[in-house]
Amino acid sequence: MNYQKWVRHFENNGRHRPEPDWQAPLEVTGGTLEKLTRSIQQFQLGDGGGPAYLIAWNRERYLSDPAIKRVVDLWFKEEREHSRLLGDMLKRLGGEEIQEHWSFSLFCAVRKFLGVRFELQALLGTEIVSNVYYKMLRKHGEDAALRGMCDLIIRDETGHIAFHRARLAAEAAGARPYGLLWAGMFRLRALVAGTVLWVNHRGAVVGLGGTDAEFYRTIWRDAGTFIRQVRKETAWSRNIRRMRRRISARIGGLCG
Ligand SMILES: [Fe+2]
Ligand SMILES: [Fe+2]
Repeated sequence: MNYQKWVRHFENNGRHRPEPDWQAPLEVTGGTLEKLTRSIQQFQLGDGGGPAYLIAWNRERYLSDPAIKRVVDLWFKEEREHSRLLGDMLKRLGGEEIQEHWSFSLFCAVRKFLGVRFELQALLGTEIVSNVYYKMLRKHGEDAALRGMCDLIIRDETGHIAFHRARLAAEAAGARPYGLLWAGMFRLRALVAGTVLWVNHRGAVVGLGGTDAEFYRTIWRDAGTFIRQVRKETAWSRNIRRMRRRISARIGGLCG
């Protein structure tokens, strides 16, 4: 995997980030304001709050390669920025930051216990469904600052999902990686992760105008897009590896 490319991606993405207009008139009121405040409180903790790093018991093995560690550091730096943005949004809504929530504590415990491979997979699922949440807030929310915040986070999360795709394409093993069974399990995990999110955040999104059907339809579509692209990138990176092997064999032949 070309880690240098990802370092460049994160460095470029850190530039030209227009701060949301926190002083714009607030366009959320009543029950929806309450629900949105509770939802943003939980996201402020879960999206870049808390430990904001890989926490699996065996993470050191994965991070022992300095190139991987550099990219992971940059990835989580963006996650911490999400927590900062969500904290400013929370102040605007009149809410206070929370230090713990049962769903986040459970998520962290499972990540610690089940190891770094599971953790990366779980974080990918969370990023896909969180991105759907932010896209729906962006689409239905009338509030200028909420939209500005979502624009930045969606831009970052789209990059994080692309990073996972490149990682999976580079790690692909076997004759038919990411086949039908894998794709079915991937969609199932995305739907389960989405349902866990929806239990706590449905009120806010529906209050703004989103629907259940739209939420699940978008998860299904985004998971499908991920599956198609990871297959394409896997085939592409295999072809490149094959070509490199042929070229070095030819060069070896010429030298020998
Ligand atoms: Fe995030
Ligand atoms: Fe992310």
